[in-house]
Amino acid sequence: MIYFFLGKGGVGKTTNAAINALRLSKKSKVLIASTDPAHNLGDVFDISLEHRPINIAENLDACEIDYKRVVEEYLKQITIKIKRKYKYLSAFNLDDSLNILKFSPGVEEDALLRAIWSLVNIDIYENVVIDLPPTGLALRIMALPIINEVWLDKLLKARKKIVDTREALKNISPVFADSSQKDKTNTDEVYNELKKIKEENRLIYSRFSDPKSSSIFIVMNIDKLSYAETLRTLDGLRELEISAKTIIVNRYIEPVADDSLSIMRGIKKSFSNYSIKALPYKEGGIIGIKQLNSAEYFPL
Ligand SMILES: Nc1ncnc2c1ncn2[C@@H]1O[C@H](COP(=O)(O)OP(=O)(O)O)[C@@H](O)[C@H]1O
Ligand SMILES: [Mg+2]
Repeated sequence: MIYFFLGKGGVGKTTNAAINALRLSKKSKVLIASTDPAHNLGDVFDISLEHRPINIAENLDACEIDYKRVVEEYLKQITIKIKRKYKYLSAFNLDDSLNILKFSPGVEEDALLRAIWSLVNIDIYENVVIDLPPTGLALRIMALPIINEVWLDKLLKARKKIVDTREALKNISPVFADSSQKDKTNTDEVYNELKKIKEENRLIYSRFSDPKSSSIFIVMNIDKLSYAETLRTLDGLRELEISAKTIIVNRYIEPVADDSLSIMRGIKKSFSNYSIKALPYKEGGIIGIKQLNSAEYFPL
């Protein structure tokens, strides 16, 4: 099972991801991974973490994804593939073009999506907890499989046209004529590669959107901005046909002032279809395994 923790910057995603990872580790082998470029998972556990998972408690491994490294590895993979497939392009300066890719929109998101995908596929873990970046970036990552699908369909169509045209041109000359097979796309390396990417993309989307394999927790505080952002996040997820399961109201203090009372009423009304849990405010935060282990939620 994959557990995603989503929310505005600073609301308590990491703290709650850590609490839940520890709970899951009492009964299963768990990995918790921070994918927020502004990592603080190590600070929350009070243990220094790295890109590769390390063991931090019984049945619990943790890591902080190194963005720069993930993007570099991703571009390296692409370079190897392109160089292998398009050997004749070596006359051009392929490396320069690939360097520019580093700054292209979407590259970081796609690299991070692939990094998350490889983490959730490490088969020693029964549960993987993903501490996501703040909402905007997190939603862009979650939306990628759908956006990619649109592009891949267009690219597959374009590639089919190229293959068909090439075949038609070949058949103009009777010497090359080959009437044995009409559709040549299945023998075209580029077409097959695109199809492979499309299949993987589908798999990612179905795994992330299926409530039987993924569970989304949205963390918020009782304040206007985080309430508004939670409403927008739920809209965004609905558009992607991904449903959240639980709303965590973090740093909970019994509301007394008029504005927090009205936000609380809004929360209960707007999120009546979700499970709403509160985690009380604790002076100084909830730091270290001992404190994280003793944190208690209560239903709202
Ligand atoms: N329930 C809580 N009570 C008090 N402080 C909290 C609580 N949850 C988180 N904090 C503190 O709030 C800050 C942000 O929490 P964090 O989990 O890092 O949020 P995020 O990952 O969303 O940026 C940290 O200083 C953290 O210790
Ligand atoms: Mg964090």
